[in-house]
Order: sequence, then C-alpha cells, then structure tokens
Amino acid sequence: MKVEDAIQRVFSLVKVLVALYTLVLVLVILMHNQPSLFANKATANDSWSPRNINTDLGDSREDRLAKYGYEVITQSSRYIGPLAEAGNRYAGNNLSCQNCHLEGGTKRGSASFVGVANRFPQFRGRENKMGTLAERINGCMERSMNGKALPENSLEMQAMIAYMKWLSTDVPAEREAEYKGFVKVVLPEAKADPVLGKAVFVKHCQTCHMADGQGQRPDPNGPYVYPPLWGTDTYNHGAGMHRVITAAQFIKGNMPHLQATWDNPILSDEEAYHVAAYINSMGRAQKSNPGTDFPDKKLKPVSTPYGPWTDSFSSEQHKYGPFQPIMAFYEREFGIKKGK
Ligand code: HEC
Ligand code: HEC
Repeated sequence: MKVEDAIQRVFSLVKVLVALYTLVLVLVILMHNQPSLFANKATANDSWSPRNINTDLGDSREDRLAKYGYEVITQSSRYIGPLAEAGNRYAGNNLSCQNCHLEGGTKRGSASFVGVANRFPQFRGRENKMGTLAERINGCMERSMNGKALPENSLEMQAMIAYMKWLSTDVPAEREAEYKGFVKVVLPEAKADPVLGKAVFVKHCQTCHMADGQGQRPDPNGPYVYPPLWGTDTYNHGAGMHRVITAAQFIKGNMPHLQATWDNPILSDEEAYHVAAYINSMGRAQKSNPGTDFPDKKLKPVSTPYGPWTDSFSSEQHKYGPFQPIMAFYEREFGIKKGK
C-alpha cells in the first residue's frame, strides 16, 4: 500500500468519526432542550390538560347539561342558594362550589372534579356505606354549603354530575392522582395556634377576606368576589374545611388566591396549619345532628372537631392537635392509618 493511500484511509476514518461525534452531540443537546421530542407515552401526557368549558364543549344534550352544571358550580347561590327562585334554595349560604373547588373544579390541589366521576360509587366512612357521586355532592350541600340535600333527580344535580363526568372523560390514568384531593402538609408536632395564625392572616389573607373574615361582595344580591371564612354565610362546623388538617392542606395549595399553587405554595406548612386554626377558631353555623356522622366512630378523621369519638383525647386536641398522638393511638389500637 502506498503511503498516500494509507493517509487517505486515516483521513476518511477521522471524517466518519467526526460526523458520528457531531451527530451524538446534536442528539444530546436536543434531548436536553427538547425532551418532549424523545418522550415516551407517559411524558407525552405531561402536555395533557383538563377539558376547557369555553373551547372543548360539543353541542350534544349531555354537553349542554354539562355547561349548565358548570354555571351551577361557579354561581351556586344564583341557582341553588339564597339568590335562587323560591323553591330552589337548597344551599344555606352564598358560597359557590368553585370557592373551594377552584377554576370550575379543574385546579390541582383544590379537590378538583377532574377524574372524580371515575371514583364513584365508593365507600364513605362518614355514612359507613357505599356512596354515589350525588350523595357526595350532597355531603358538601349539607356542610360546606350549610344547606340541605338537592333532590337527586333535580336538573341542577343532574347537570353538576354531567359536568363532572365530562371533566372525567379521557383523563390519562397516570395523571388522575395529581388532580385528586389536596396537597400534603407535614404536621408540626405542636398544637395549631390561633394566635400565631392570626399574624399569618393579617399578613397574607385579610386584604381579600377582610379583617372581620366576611369577605367582599360589592353587590349584596350577587355572589362573593372574596368569600367569607367564618360567620353565618359560609361553611358550617360539620364541613371538611372546618378540620384544621384539611383546611391547612387547602390553604397551602391555593391561598393567597392566584399566587399559591399545588407545586408552588406561598405559605410554609406551619403557617398554613396555624392560619387554618385561626379561621376555624371563629364562630360559624352548626350542622344539625353531627353525632350521626361516622356510624363507625373509628373511621372519623382525627381532626373532626366534634364528638363523639372512640378515644379519650380532649375535644380541644381533636380540633387543634397535636394530631400525631391521636394517629398513633388508632394505628396501635385498631391498625388504622389516618391522614387527617
Ligand atoms: C367550603 C369549601 C367547599 C365548598 C363550598 C364545596 N366543597 Fe366540595 N369538598 C370540600 C372539601 C374540603 C372536600 C374534601 C373533603 C375531605 O377531604 O374529606 C370536598 C369534596 C368534594 C367532592 C369529592 C371530591 C373527591 O375527589 O372525592 C365532591 C364531588 C364535591 N366536594 C362537590 C362539591 C359541590 C358540587 C359543591 C357545591 C354544591 C361543593 N363541593 C362545595 C369543600 C367544599
Ligand atoms: C388575592 C385575594 C385573596 C387572598 C390574599 C386570600 N384569599 Fe382566600 N380566597 C380568595 C378567593 C377569590 C377565594 C374563592 C376562590 C374562587 O372562587 O376562585 C378564596 C377562597 C378561600 C377559602 C375557601 C372558601 C371559603 O369561603 O372558606 C378559604 C378557606 C380561604 N380562601 C382562606 C384564605 C387564607 C387562609 C388566606 C391567607 C393565607 C387567603 N385565603 C388569602 C381570595 C383570596
């Protein structure tokens, strides 16, 4: 072989190597900056978002019913509350479902309705039986909305269920959990302190909810712009929001409004815990017959602030904690793990 030939070969080899190296480099840079190009099915679903009532609604009868359900959920007091026609006033306060289930029930970390219809019927400890979605809605009607049950065959109940079913269609299985419930809060070992909570309230909450907690409603015959947190026109003492742990979870993922999100909270866990205690230390409407809730008292969430219980912790401790000793008791005595 001539020397020139040999040099020629080495050159070709180097060219091929340089070409290969460049290709790998380009791929690595692309994978780093454009991961979606290389995503498998699971990550492709990262770009999935819930159905949007303004852009994704069809014209079928079911879709029109869902649209009405959306109206009821976002302006409840007008359709099923104190501002509705006589005969249709089931909610006892002027809240809307959306005040807690934010953005029409599509916001993560606010017990969203995305996927909810796929989880019912389910076992409910509060009633100690299998419960339907209509019954779950009525749980909120009697407590969060401080009212009475909506008839299951009423147009408004059917419409809210149609909306929840519509939102629950085609939700990728691996995304459902993230739309369910509230964010977690690491509970401090100490009791929740309304005095510390008041300082958090003054700093982070009262510009909207006002110092007297009564919120703001520019038109006294319209829905709230900022809903009340205590007093007679908000959730009653039987509501989930009246439990310090549940309220802390909701607040951490959602308040201050338009700032806190499930993955970017504003308050620390401790601040959310104490401010939940502050708002729940104030007076509110009492649910009738709370003693009949949770026929099997062992299933009662530890932070349910009203008795009776199957333990001897004080009502003060059930309301403000510390909750770890109560949780440890249920795990030891009954093998029941409690999260709230
Ligand atoms: C004051 C706040 C509040 C209002 C107002 C409210 N809810 Fe709820 N809702 C909650 C809380 C808190 C939970 C979860 C309770 C728990 O974790 O035990 C919940 C749970 C639910 C669930 C079950 C969600 C799931 O993933 O299992 C449905 C359905 C529901 N609410 C429907 C409604 C409807 C419909 C309205 C209006 C008629 C309404 N809620 C009004 C606070 C509220
Ligand atoms: C920027 C205004 C604003 C601030 C600040 C704010 N909120 Fe809210 N809050 C709202 C609005 C608006 C809603 C109803 C959400 C909706 O309808 O979209 C709400 C709903 C709530 C609810 C559920 C509904 C009810 O009436 O019980 C609670 C509880 C709550 N806020 C607590 C707090 C706490 C605690 C803070 C302070 C850490 C806080 N908020 C700060 C505007 C605010």
